[in-house]
Amino acid sequence: MCCTAKDLIIAARRMAELGLVIGSFGNASCRQDDRILITPTCLDYSRMEPADLVTLELAGKKLAGGREPSSEFRLHVTIYGARPDAQAIVHTHSTNAVTLSMLTNELPMLTEEIEAVIKGPVPVAPFVPAGTQELADQAADILQGIPSKALILARHGVVGFGQSLNEALLICQLVERNAKIYLLTQPR
Ligand code: 13P
Repeated sequence: MCCTAKDLIIAARRMAELGLVIGSFGNASCRQDDRILITPTCLDYSRMEPADLVTLELAGKKLAGGREPSSEFRLHVTIYGARPDAQAIVHTHSTNAVTLSMLTNELPMLTEEIEAVIKGPVPVAPFVPAGTQELADQAADILQGIPSKALILARHGVVGFGQSLNEALLICQLVERNAKIYLLTQPR
């Protein structure tokens, strides 16, 4: 199912309202047949309008849009190439998930939510600088071999994806919630 520009802006605003990102950090995208619609770089979500969104070829070349695409466009494009079950991607910088990434290398299946929605434990990808093709390739390599629809990027954030923007956003929320449970249950 194709998303509209309005759907993408609603999901991106919701991501910010939920506190999964602050300022203009994070980004979201969805597939539109043989194209990708993605949020622009460095624009506050409350000010984002349909004309600010950017359309990319599946290979990542900009086709249309009033601004430059998210600096993480390589991450989105490469995951779409690696995971046919990804129709929409949300990338957050949520606090508990980033904290977990400093302590361990996997968010285990602590609750049935992870099994039911995310479909598997969520690995932590080793730190690689944001916005690079190296980050994108590493993420795709990890996601290609596992059932999970989410990945935690060490010292950086979360990538969640699914058949819709709503599913991708729910997955990011569940990663954050379960990361919080993980941290609260660690012995002190
Ligand atoms: P944008 O380039 O999409 O504004 O976001 C930066 C970011 O979240 C880096 O991971």
